[in-house]
Amino acid sequence: MSNISFSHIVAASSNHVIGADGGLPWDIPEDMKFFRSTTAGKIIIMGRKTFESVGHPLPKRLNLVVTRQKDYIAEGAIVFSTIEEAMNFAKTKVDDYDPEIFIIGGGEIYKQSLPLVDTVYLTRIHQDIKGDTLYPQLDPAQFELSHQEDRTEPVPFSFLTYKKVSSRSGR
Ligand SMILES: NC(=O)c1ccc[n+]([C@@H]2O[C@H](COP(=O)([O-])OP(=O)(O)OC[C@H]3O[C@@H](n4cnc5c(N)ncnc54)[C@H](OP(=O)(O)O)[C@@H]3O)[C@@H](O)[C@H]2O)c1
Repeated sequence: MSNISFSHIVAASSNHVIGADGGLPWDIPEDMKFFRSTTAGKIIIMGRKTFESVGHPLPKRLNLVVTRQKDYIAEGAIVFSTIEEAMNFAKTKVDDYDPEIFIIGGGEIYKQSLPLVDTVYLTRIHQDIKGDTLYPQLDPAQFELSHQEDRTEPVPFSFLTYKKVSSRSGR
């Protein structure tokens, strides 16, 4: 049980935009591939709006959806009324999936769960992009960069991995 961890996986522009009009304001195939390969076989937790934006459960993953609506039905997913309930349920399923549990958005869910994650896989798109949903700015006292890979196509972007400072120091 002790190696269970929670991670964010997110793509954000220089000005911290992650979404616009309920969808993604860019199309970066290599980032979609990174998302698919990183979360394959894992448990994923998402907000109701992100679930509806994707439009279907993501295959080969255990899909957990968070909503305050009573009786919300998400076909192919399990519904929870708080983030904590979804996280606690996920912990009971790691033997069938993977001890690294992914929180995949969107803005509301990232913001509320940021204090609870150990790792942030952040695809940083090096452009200012217009949008209505933001990812919080990471506090360098809380998260330190542990890995970086830069890309130029179709736009300049970087795959960044941040680790929580306290979790790296062996807390
Ligand atoms: N760039 C990226 O990596 C990325 C990743 C994911 C999503 N996105 C984008 O982000 C946008 C969606 O984000 P969003 O912030 O609008 O919505 P969201 O976080 O996906 O979902 C928000 C909904 O989750 C439920 N919720 C939130 N907090 C809750 C809590 N504490 N307990 C129970 N339920 C709770 C509520 O559902 P109810 O209203 O049903 O109660 C709320 O309306 C879209 O544009 C999407 O494309 C981007």
